[in-house]
Amino acid sequence: MRAIANVHGQILPLEDVKISALDRGFLFGDSVYEVVRVYQGRPYLEEEHFQRLARSLEAIALGGVDLVRLRRRVHDTIAAGPFREAVLYVQITRGASMPRKHAFPKQAVPLELLWVEDYDDAPYEHLRRVGVGVVTYPDRRWHRCDIKSTNLLANVLANQAAHDAGCYEALLYLPDGTLTEASHSSFFWVKDGALGTTPSRDNILPGITRGLILGLAGRANVVVREGHLRRDDLRSVDELFLTGTTSEVLPVTHVDGQPVGSGRPGPITRRLQEVYAAKLREFLSASSY
Ligand SMILES: Cc1ncc(COP(=O)(O)O)c(C=O)c1O
Repeated sequence: MRAIANVHGQILPLEDVKISALDRGFLFGDSVYEVVRVYQGRPYLEEEHFQRLARSLEAIALGGVDLVRLRRRVHDTIAAGPFREAVLYVQITRGASMPRKHAFPKQAVPLELLWVEDYDDAPYEHLRRVGVGVVTYPDRRWHRCDIKSTNLLANVLANQAAHDAGCYEALLYLPDGTLTEASHSSFFWVKDGALGTTPSRDNILPGITRGLILGLAGRANVVVREGHLRRDDLRSVDELFLTGTTSEVLPVTHVDGQPVGSGRPGPITRRLQEVYAAKLREFLSASSY
């Protein structure tokens, strides 16, 4: 799979990128990131992703990054491929400095790294049709999950637990049983015809796909009720699905081995998949920038 990187404006093969062992992203997880889907050579929901990146940078007081220039680099790198169906990864770290100290260094220059790689949607296309299984798993993350930081160890361990159980994702729950989100996806449920999801004011990532689906629910004639679902309530939901930049709208058919509703992707999930696809078609048929 081809992958082309861009480091501070220099375009090179991803495998040739060298990063200092003193980089704070590596040493402390002192960095933030974004993942953007590129359809037909065009980054989707680019504005939304870059707004979230700006918020993440501000939240960790990482200044001095020119996001307009970074977006130009994104377009240059997509054109350098040229890439059609691809994924863009952007990461900004607080840079490298010596000696290793926790407090912000005075002189470090932020590292601005991005890469674009070819993307094959076929595996997800299949999963979107048949649905996936998930497990429930304790949410052991920190209290600022609204920041898209690269501190992902708790997410990694949760997702590995899902994989060990032959499942796609882990739904995370707090000590009182309240579900928050999944290890790398937002989650929604359908109960009595209404769509539910955790409010974004809570300790979750404000998913870009989540926001899109909330905005599109009206088109699918679905009422939204943001709120909380507990682990015990999972037995009584009619439908469940995940959302994410690459997974899009992914039906969940089983939780901890138990079927959700009929055990097959539900009708409201299907409707939302359709409105998602229609919205994407609109984007792709609009004149390019
Ligand atoms: C914890 C978490 N929640 C939700 C999402 C989905 O967000 P988005 O729709 O912006 O991809 C992600 C994506 O990486 C994530 O890591």
